[in-house]
Amino acid sequence: MNSGVIAVSYISASALFILALNGLSHQEKAGRGNLYGMLGMGLALLATILGLVTNNQGYLVGGMVSGGAIGWLLAKRVEMTHMPELVAILHSMVGLAAVFVGYANTLEHNTVLSGVEKTIHDVETYVGILIGALTFSGSVAAYLKLSARISSKPLLLPGRHLFNLGLLIAAIWFGAVFVGQSAAGGGLGALIVMTLIALVFGVHMVVAIGGADMPVVVSMLNSYSGWAAAAMGFMLGNDLLIVVGALVGSSGAILSYIMCKAMNRKFINVIMGGFGTGSKAGAAGPAGEAGDVSSVEAEEAANLLESAKEVMILPGYGMAVAHAQHIVYEITNKLRDKGINVRFGIHPVAGRMPGHMNVLLAEAQVPYDIVYGMDEINDDFPNVDVSLVIGANDIVNPAAQEVPDSPIAGMPVLEPWRGKTTIVLKRGMSTGYAGVDNPLFYKENTRMLFGDAKDSVDAMLAFLSK
Ligand code: TAP
Repeated sequence: MNSGVIAVSYISASALFILALNGLSHQEKAGRGNLYGMLGMGLALLATILGLVTNNQGYLVGGMVSGGAIGWLLAKRVEMTHMPELVAILHSMVGLAAVFVGYANTLEHNTVLSGVEKTIHDVETYVGILIGALTFSGSVAAYLKLSARISSKPLLLPGRHLFNLGLLIAAIWFGAVFVGQSAAGGGLGALIVMTLIALVFGVHMVVAIGGADMPVVVSMLNSYSGWAAAAMGFMLGNDLLIVVGALVGSSGAILSYIMCKAMNRKFINVIMGGFGTGSKAGAAGPAGEAGDVSSVEAEEAANLLESAKEVMILPGYGMAVAHAQHIVYEITNKLRDKGINVRFGIHPVAGRMPGHMNVLLAEAQVPYDIVYGMDEINDDFPNVDVSLVIGANDIVNPAAQEVPDSPIAGMPVLEPWRGKTTIVLKRGMSTGYAGVDNPLFYKENTRMLFGDAKDSVDAMLAFLSK
C-alpha cells in the first residue's frame, strides 16, 4: 500500500470518527454514530496493518486474535450494571499501552537519534509515560471503587495537597534528569522513578474523591486515556493516533466540564480530591432527625398511580440492578392508555455511567419525547401528582439543598418532594453511592414500597392490568 493511500485512509478514518462523535451526541443518531466509529476503526486498522507493518506479522495477528477474543468475551459477559467498571479497566489498558510504547521507544531510539531531535523525542516519551502511568493506576483505582472492591468513601491523607505538589515537583525534576542523562545514552533510572511517582499520583488522585463525584473522575480518566493515545501517536509518529487521541481527550474533557456543571462542582476541586467528603454531622444529620417511614404495598401504589393525572418516573441505579426497565415501560403504557400523562425525569449522573438511564430506557423502547433532563422538569414537580422513584437515592436527596455540610451539598437534585406524593421503590433503607442518608424517605408525602424494584413493578403491573 503506498503512502498516498495510507494518508487518504487516515484522513477518511479521522472524518468518520468526527461523524461518530457528532452522532453520539444525540440519542436518535447514536446508532449511526456507532456505525461511523466502527467503519473508521476498521479503515484505520486495515491501512495500518496492510500499509505500515512490514515484518513480524505473526506477532501482530497473534496479539490481535488473543486481544480481540478477550475483548469479545468481556463485552459478551458484562452486565449493564458493570459497564462502568469495564470502561474503567479498558481506560487502564490505554494507559498501560502508552507506558509500554514509551519504554520500547526509549530503548530503541536511545542510540538512533541525537541533538534537538532526541530532546524533543525524550520530552514526548516522558509526557507519554507520565500520562499513561497515571491513567493506568487511576483507572485501576476507579475500577476497584466502582466494583465496590474498595470503599467509595474518600481516603484523605493529612497534607494531601502538599503531597500532590511534592509528587508534581518530583516528576518534573526526574523528567529533567531523564532528558539530561538520555543525551548521554542513560536516563532509564530517572524514567522508572518518574513512572512510579505517576502511578502513586494516579491512585492518590482517585481514592481521595468522594463517591458522588466519581462520574467526573470516570469522564476525566476517559479524557486522560485520549491524551495517552495522542502521546503514543507522537512517540510513534502516527498522525491518526494523534488525531483520534486528541478527539477522545478533548471530548472527555468537555464531558468532565458538563459533569462538573451538573454536579455544581469546580473541576479543579474535584481533581485535587476531598470533594464529596463532608463532615460527620452532614452524613449523620438527616438520620438523626429521621422520624417515621410510611410504607405501602404494591396494590396501594398502583391505586395512587391510577388516580393521578400527572406521573413522573425517576429511575436510578437500582432500576438497572433490578433490570426493571421493560416492566416500567409496560406500566407507562397502561397509565397512558388510561389518559394519564407520564414523563421520565433523568438526572445527569443517575446510575453509574453517563447516559446510563437513557440507554436503559432506549433499550426498553421508551419514546424519547417523554424523557426529560433534570433541568427541564424540576420546575414542574408542584404539578405532579405521583413521582415514582425507582431504585434512585442520591439523585433525589434533599440533603443536597437542606444540609449545608452534607457530602453532596450543592449538588443539583431532582425534587419530587415538591409534588403531591412520592413513591420510592427500594429494598431497604440503605444509602446510595455517596453514603448519605436521605431525608426524602421520611417526608410526610413519601411512601416507601420495599422490595426488589423488578418484583415491585411486576406486582404493580398485575394490579394495573386487572
Ligand atoms: P444510588 O444513589 O447509588 O442509589 C441506588 C439505590 O438503589 C440504593 O439506595 C439501593 O437501595 C437501591 N437499589 C439497589 N438495588 C436495587 C434493587 N434491585 N431494587 C430496588 N432498589 C435497589 O443511585 P442514583 O440515585 O442513581 O445515584 C447515582 C450515584 O452514583 C450518584 O451518587 C452518582 O454520583 C454516583 N455515580 C454516578 C456515575 C455516573 S457517570 N452516572 C458514576 C459513578 C458514580 P437498597 O439497597 O435499599 O435497595
